[in-house]
Amino acid sequence: MDQKNFENPPGPRTPAPPGCPAGKITLVGLGPGRLDHLTGRARAAIAEADTVIGYVTYIRLIRDLLAGKEVVKKAMSEELDRAIEAHERARRGERVVVVSSGDAGIYGMAGPTYEVLFQAGWTPDSAIEVEIVPGASAINACAALVGAPLTHDFCAISLSDLLTPWPVIARRLDAAAHADFVVALYNPKSGRRTRHVQEARRIFLRHRSSGTPVAIVKSAFRPKQRVEITTLGEVAEAEIGMLSTVLIGNSNTYVRDGLMITPRGYVDKYEIRDKRRAARAGEKAGRPLAGGLEGWLAALRESGKSAGELAKIHDLPEDYIAAALAEAPEPGARDGGEERA
Ligand SMILES: C[S@@+](CC[C@H](N)C(=O)[O-])C[C@H]1O[C@@H](n2cnc3c(N)ncnc32)[C@H](O)[C@@H]1O
Repeated sequence: MDQKNFENPPGPRTPAPPGCPAGKITLVGLGPGRLDHLTGRARAAIAEADTVIGYVTYIRLIRDLLAGKEVVKKAMSEELDRAIEAHERARRGERVVVVSSGDAGIYGMAGPTYEVLFQAGWTPDSAIEVEIVPGASAINACAALVGAPLTHDFCAISLSDLLTPWPVIARRLDAAAHADFVVALYNPKSGRRTRHVQEARRIFLRHRSSGTPVAIVKSAFRPKQRVEITTLGEVAEAEIGMLSTVLIGNSNTYVRDGLMITPRGYVDKYEIRDKRRAARAGEKAGRPLAGGLEGWLAALRESGKSAGELAKIHDLPEDYIAAALAEAPEPGARDGGEERA
């Protein structure tokens, strides 16, 4: 795997050919939509740009920042055209900003732009510089509006089958549901794609109860913002559109006072006694859980059961359990430090 050394700056960029000034492409994540969620670096990049390229709706979101700039508006399906246009202009020496909603690297313009650049023979040492400016993606923007649904493991799955075959999407939904991830569904519905959320629900109900909390956030931090908290069983009745993100809780997620919360796991380890935090029986503050890797492996060894039996009990592959048990325990591994929020 390539290693990047962040302490030493990269080597010098290949100078632009004479008479051909080096341009720059900056991929800017705008965040969910309101200007006060735009990062300082995003604002500065837009201010430095000669040209701003983007989908019409995103250009509208930042229209107050575009005075004096050339603006290239493209339609929804024209991602590659936006990237080609950015490359052409950067080759002519322009500083080009390509905007995405949320984060440019999450179902955004970063991928298509690098694909177009690589096809044209660009490398990171080429004269054209590329910068990606991160922004808050829909997943964390929507989570912020409904409580704390992402405080345990989560993943994002897009239901768009414009570029991904449905069996691939269905397999990912099934794997995420089976593995008890909190899941954010991007692109849940469009004018033509109306059935996909129902199929996702069907897959999730194979693994999760119909009472599993689900939040639907439409147009987070935009004028038409709408938040609805429902359940997996009733999600079919909810209003879901192209500008919605659907957050499906895991088996521990609950709703309290209208807030969707996924516990971090502290109550498994600690209880409050006399207004003080105390480790539960068998647990130690600052140490991995009794059921953490080393404690779990020790319990497996002591159980005297075969790898096959243990695989069934823990719903894990038998060869994984056999290989883990074959390795000698790490000395002092149970004393590892605790991760903090
Ligand atoms: C092509 S993806 C773009 C994602 C974007 N790059 C990001 O990081 O949020 C479009 C999908 O993102 C989600 N989305 C984007 N902005 C949103 C917002 N303000 N509120 C709710 N969902 C949003 C919706 O699921 C929409 O269908």
